[in-house]
Amino acid sequence: MKNKPIGVFDSGLGGLTVVKALKEILPNESILYFGDTARLPYGVKSRDLIIQYSMQIANFLIKNDAKMIIVACNTATAMALEVLKNNFKDIPIIGVIEPGSIQASLDSKSKKIGVIGTVATINSKAYDIALNLVDKEIQVFSKECPLFVPFVEEGMVEGEAINLIVEHYLSSFKNNIDTMILGCTHYPLLKPVIKDFVKDINLVDSASAIATHAKSILIKKSLMSEVVNSNELECFVTDLPRKFEKLGEIFLGETIKQPQLIDDF
Ligand code: DGL
Repeated sequence: MKNKPIGVFDSGLGGLTVVKALKEILPNESILYFGDTARLPYGVKSRDLIIQYSMQIANFLIKNDAKMIIVACNTATAMALEVLKNNFKDIPIIGVIEPGSIQASLDSKSKKIGVIGTVATINSKAYDIALNLVDKEIQVFSKECPLFVPFVEEGMVEGEAINLIVEHYLSSFKNNIDTMILGCTHYPLLKPVIKDFVKDINLVDSASAIATHAKSILIKKSLMSEVVNSNELECFVTDLPRKFEKLGEIFLGETIKQPQLIDDF
């Protein structure tokens, strides 16, 4: 069991930011990455549909020997994590929202925390619930930022256009909060422009937080791989996006091996 891969899934390629963080902190682990590129974006879809997609993908990863599943997508975590945990009890299944919330509560002194994400994630109030479970005195200020995902996908992570959008979405946070959770797979790529605008607000990147959490679960369950530096990454997608290689490289920070197309699962 120990040397089996970790399964990671997202609505598309954005979850490769989580893979990048995992590769840094767990160099001996092999990873199966599933990007549901045909059905992206999840951020504007209904809960029932996101649960249905997430169940299909979890089944696929388990059939392909995953020893643990990481839901890299914030939207899928908000909508489907509990259903996945109830349906697949034999392996650990973790999502990005809890680790990000714990990290934010540790970073925040004022207990005033901002959360940005997709429409579905923000409407679900999943971060509000998770933050208040950690500490019920935390005040949560959330904001959906639907234009951030297409900007990142266009590679427009700096320049005048994104600066205006950042200002439009994030102005109300200034002087209000001391910590902000980047509650979407794509937002770590906007960290420099966001930081430039919000200045002294701490930014919590849920990708790094979940990688640290995954490591602690693997240790606790004696599931750490014993193969030194295996670090293999196998990718599966439901459609081959036009810009797959370019985008994959941006998210992962290194060249990406051509993924396998899965169209009947
Ligand atoms: N992966 C999604 C998330 O983290 C963003 C992209 C989408 O809407 O599917 O919420």
